Amino acid sequence: MKIGILGQRGGWHVTALQEALARRGITAPCFPITRLMARLSARPWLAATGEPLETYDVLFVRTIPGGSLEQIIFRVDALHRLENAGVRIVNSPTTIERTVDKYYTSTLLEDAGLPTPRTVVTERFDEAMAAFHELGGDVVVKPIFGSEGRGIVRVSDPDTAYRVFRALELGRYVYYLQEFVPHGCEDIRVFVIGEEVVAAMVRRGETWKTNVAQGAVGEPLVPDDELREMSLRATRALGADYAGVDILPIGGGGYAVVEINGIPGWRGLQAATGVNIAEHLAGFVLSGPI
Ligand SMILES: Nc1ncnc2c1ncn2[C@@H]1O[C@H](COP(=O)(O)OP(=O)(O)O)[C@@H](O)[C@H]1O
Ligand SMILES: [Mg+2]
Repeated sequence: MKIGILGQRGGWHVTALQEALARRGITAPCFPITRLMARLSARPWLAATGEPLETYDVLFVRTIPGGSLEQIIFRVDALHRLENAGVRIVNSPTTIERTVDKYYTSTLLEDAGLPTPRTVVTERFDEAMAAFHELGGDVVVKPIFGSEGRGIVRVSDPDTAYRVFRALELGRYVYYLQEFVPHGCEDIRVFVIGEEVVAAMVRRGETWKTNVAQGAVGEPLVPDDELREMSLRATRALGADYAGVDILPIGGGGYAVVEINGIPGWRGLQAATGVNIAEHLAGFVLSGPI
């Protein structure tokens, strides 16, 4: 089977996947997604650094670096074309579109009946100010396309809200405001592959932002049935082959799903739990449906 990786050569996750595949006798080359070249009325339809991609059975998508709207849409369109040509893309371009966008993700979680925090999304400054009060005057403001906790701010003062929202207006950002859920600086990351929860951890942060990239420390967790069920349903709702599910414990017991990562990292999770995620992913792709 011909397997490739779209990612950053030499990156930790790419190397882990390459090693897991090599143990199964597969050499998986890595190409940067920024080096795609598409052709119409000529072959190859899609190449990366000159290598034709439509000849691959499976392509893992590990990194889509930031870029202009045109660049991002071109890269994802190229993944769609490859998928249409019969290449299995993991995660699929549809799942990537759904998971990179926090608003889209939240709608699918809600439609799947999963508990998600109250959220307002708007383009207008005045509506954002009204939403700040509607959500209890203590909100988390998130970039719609963001990860690793970068750019997320908690705003709990009307003057700060005014100033932050005016600044966002200048950049023509969309406001994504979510009620602050008090969680005692702890949340839960569940890693799902296919129909299986392969690892989970509690992330303890120094502050309310519990991303490992923000300094949180992971502790292994054996998820209860409710957590498992929620994580599997959330992964299914996004159509993901694999996903990192972020879950906040809410007051009085119970949980809220806060986001699903369609290109999840697992370095912190692997360090906390000892589970070799790349092994599971390689096994999943080689045994899973094509
Ligand atoms: N509504 C919220 N209330 C309290 N903390 C939150 C809320 N939303 C996110 N957080 C904290 O911020 C972290 C990052 O938010 P998340 O939505 O997962 O974005 P990212 O894609 O940057 O990881 C979460 O892991 C959690 O610790
Ligand atoms: Mg997150």
